Amino acid sequence: QWTTSSIVDDQVARIREQVGDGKAICGLSGGVDSAVAAALVQRAIGDRLTCVFVDHGLLRAGERAQVERDFVAATGVKLVTVDARERFLDALRGVTDPEQKRKIIGREFIRVFEQAERDLKAEGDYQFLVQGTLYPDVVESGGGAGAANIKSHHNVGGLPEDLQFKLVEPLRSLFKDEVRRVGTELGLPETIVQRQPFPGPGLGIRIIGEVTQERLDILRKADAIAREELTTAGLDRQIWQCPVVLLADVRSVGVQGDGRTYGHPVVLRPVSSEDAMTADWTRLPYDVLERISTRITNEVAEVNRVVLDVTSKPPGTIEWE
Ligand code: XMP
Repeated sequence: QWTTSSIVDDQVARIREQVGDGKAICGLSGGVDSAVAAALVQRAIGDRLTCVFVDHGLLRAGERAQVERDFVAATGVKLVTVDARERFLDALRGVTDPEQKRKIIGREFIRVFEQAERDLKAEGDYQFLVQGTLYPDVVESGGGAGAANIKSHHNVGGLPEDLQFKLVEPLRSLFKDEVRRVGTELGLPETIVQRQPFPGPGLGIRIIGEVTQERLDILRKADAIAREELTTAGLDRQIWQCPVVLLADVRSVGVQGDGRTYGHPVVLRPVSSEDAMTADWTRLPYDVLERISTRITNEVAEVNRVVLDVTSKPPGTIEWE
């Protein structure tokens, strides 16, 4: 019978044993797994761990601050942020195909991370790479060792195998709910521990059409409003996630004040699910939908229509791209 605190003690001891007096790097995504893995390793080896957070510009409102301010305050972790927003925008210019976007974002992410790793290595030798691999990830990939477990098709954090590191994977025997409990035990903020799934390619695959700075700003605002209202309504635990999608190449006529508008629609995609393999569309209360719709169309000038996706998975996937 494992208690959460005995899991923490046990993992801290194992990490100390594995890393010895070596140094480790951990890429943070803003998600639960990498945050908890990093917090465990931090507890074990202190500032011989350096975390790297890549801001690819496809994050939701407040996510960078959550890592830079809240996560650092909770753990005391040593953090390097790489601002790669321009670089990702350049690489995505003119690209509309979903898989192409994923490929480009994944590729750029690896390049930026490798550069950060080289910069760090110039200051001292790092032998270990921390990864937030969970037990289900291990099982899914047939129990193979180390880097092979990274769902490269899925995670922006999928790293090439020629990085010369030994892997530290303190969550390898844990399920998601255990990881959340360990995170709470380590004092991580609720916003990180209870975070809903968010795709590695971020808002890049929630803009249908080309990704531009302006479109990202529009979607970020609409997404923040939807999240705020869902949280206020106490619905976060009931929904698996609620992508907000910008139909950037679609325009429709509207009327606002005494003027005609010709703006973009956003789609709300609230889903209920156990594991994201299948999903049902969530029957959100009408008053919540109304508040989200009113606020988005009032507060985001470029959006004049809010529509609701009532498709299950299958046949629809959760994300639109
Ligand atoms: P779909 O759209 O395939 O999504 O029904 C299932 C779950 O996976 C997430 N998702 C991704 N996560 N990189 C990720 O890290 C991706 O490219 C990606 N695509 C989808 C999605 O948010 C949902 O939770």
